[in-house]
Amino acid sequence: MNGWTEGALALAVTLVLGAGLWLFTGEPVGDDTTDTTIPVVVDTDAAARGQTLASDTGCLACHTIDGAASVGPTWKGVAGATRPLISGEQVTADNAYLFNSIVDPPSQMVSGFEEVMPTTYAEQLSEQEINDLVEYIKSLS
Ligand code: HEC
Repeated sequence: MNGWTEGALALAVTLVLGAGLWLFTGEPVGDDTTDTTIPVVVDTDAAARGQTLASDTGCLACHTIDGAASVGPTWKGVAGATRPLISGEQVTADNAYLFNSIVDPPSQMVSGFEEVMPTTYAEQLSEQEINDLVEYIKSLS
């Protein structure tokens, strides 16, 4: 290889890597990701269904979406964040955690709250409805 080809190759590689890096880091992961620990990717159609379900099912009697304290933790900023549990564990609020928090609340109690969340949602809601609620909560992160 002569010097010119090498130089052109190096330039091409630099450009491709640079563009890749820019695309990767330039991808927005949410409006406010400052206190989240994992990126949150939301299915917006499911989130829209979840929003309706949240008010129809009565979740919003205990949960706010604006960061204000209530009977339960606010949903704002929960998805992707680290949750302190009564057990002393610190867990990341990923899809599995959020799903489990809805179907079996006492198994992962958030520190500072009472055990008052209904344990009937696993029977009351379909798996898809629960996933829709999870997507809605994620849209608030
Ligand atoms: C009677 C009040 C009440 C209702 C109604 C209620 N919750 Fe909760 N929820 C709580 C409380 C209190 C906690 C915190 C203790 C715990 O982890 O169970 C909680 C915790 C959660 C968590 C974990 C949040 C976190 O900060 O880590 C999720 C997710 C959740 N609820 C979703 C729901 C959904 C979805 C519904 C409706 C289908 C619902 N809740 C209805 C009281 C309620």
